[in-house]
Amino acid sequence: MNRRFFTAASLALALAAGFAGEAEAQAPTTTLRIFTGGQQRPDVMRQILDVYMQRNPGVRVDVEVGGATSEQQQQYLNTVLASRDPTLDVVLIDVIRPAQYAAAQWAEPLDAFLGAERDAVMARYLPAYREANIVNGRVIALPYFADAQFLFFRRDLLEKHGIQPPRTWDQLREAAKTVMQRENNPNLAGFLTAGAPIEGTVCTYMVPMWGAGGNLTNAQGQLQLNTPAARRPFDLWAQMRAENVTPPNIAEIVTDRARQNFQAGNAVFNMNWAFNWQRFQGDADSQVRDRVGVIPLPGFTPDSAATCIGGWQLAITAFSRNKQAAYNLIRFLSSPEVSKMQAILASHMPVFAEVYTDPDVLRANPWFAQALPVVQTARSRPVTPAYPQVSEIIRTNMNAFLAGTRTADQALQDMTTRLTPLMAIR
Ligand code: GLC
Repeated sequence: MNRRFFTAASLALALAAGFAGEAEAQAPTTTLRIFTGGQQRPDVMRQILDVYMQRNPGVRVDVEVGGATSEQQQQYLNTVLASRDPTLDVVLIDVIRPAQYAAAQWAEPLDAFLGAERDAVMARYLPAYREANIVNGRVIALPYFADAQFLFFRRDLLEKHGIQPPRTWDQLREAAKTVMQRENNPNLAGFLTAGAPIEGTVCTYMVPMWGAGGNLTNAQGQLQLNTPAARRPFDLWAQMRAENVTPPNIAEIVTDRARQNFQAGNAVFNMNWAFNWQRFQGDADSQVRDRVGVIPLPGFTPDSAATCIGGWQLAITAFSRNKQAAYNLIRFLSSPEVSKMQAILASHMPVFAEVYTDPDVLRANPWFAQALPVVQTARSRPVTPAYPQVSEIIRTNMNAFLAGTRTADQALQDMTTRLTPLMAIR
């Protein structure tokens, strides 16, 4: 048997357990708890953590899973963190949240842990993620995976009907209508995306607005919703609804429901996030394996497309009692090695440019060869500590319009009234 030296801590633990045998000596001395959402592949995180635990026998990492959508996860974390609960050491947070976490002092700034390496470590990430995680000069979190919205389409159906993948919204509508009419399948929707009052529906508004050349604010940070571009999303989605390209229940669809419906073979197009791909290719129940194409989102003209940047970050809570151990863990989880594992196991987009060209990554995700420029040019939702309120105002208005309970004028009026004071908060 292989005898090993006890560290003082593991020896103490073994003695405390009343048994100084080898198994006890190897028992973890530190237990960390990490929170993730159900959509961010907790199963894959578990596999990655098992690797970490094998390499670090003194550490055990438990995973807590909660919340099917970004804002639901945050509602739960608001409660935990507002009560300064120390049970969570690391939390996975959406790319829109570091400013809020910094303002609330919920995240332990990482600068002291990073030390002299700080700038070199941060320089390796894709710029959007480096920038999103540095708030007022302090590193608030480290990137776990990148994300953007893409257009997933039924390659088999487009080929069957001799239709090219669309580059404009007009082409998409025409393609959807043609396929729906020729397939004559009442279960086949033309186009799916998030329409429920969830975080993803902020992008359902922002993507066509950006694509029409608009922005929520002008260079001075003032709201500018009295522009033609601010109205374009309403016109686009109204037209899709009128032509039955989107299903009647679009206002009830959450991100993962769109993914599931498309995966069941019930949609031609699906505007959704990168994780969809591996589910289509890997899930046992997938009806669309090897039948899906992925391209950048369409624009109003072929070269004016825009997409929302997404992605998830690792923050150490300010209330953790194991900050150094938590830091060691997040450095691992935010490494090129783990970016590669996630890309292969979950089609999570890497946060390091070089991982996009890794042959194993490309074998699992051939479309990643064209995906890096999409992530590099993807647009950010507003960066503000008041993001939860900003998000709530945009998504509830977009949702009410899709549900037919509010007109575009009413939605724009409500957004203007309620967003204007929030835009002054920096
Ligand atoms: C994805 C993105 C995230 C976004 C969410 C909305 O998870 O990575 O940034 O907020 O979808 O549904």
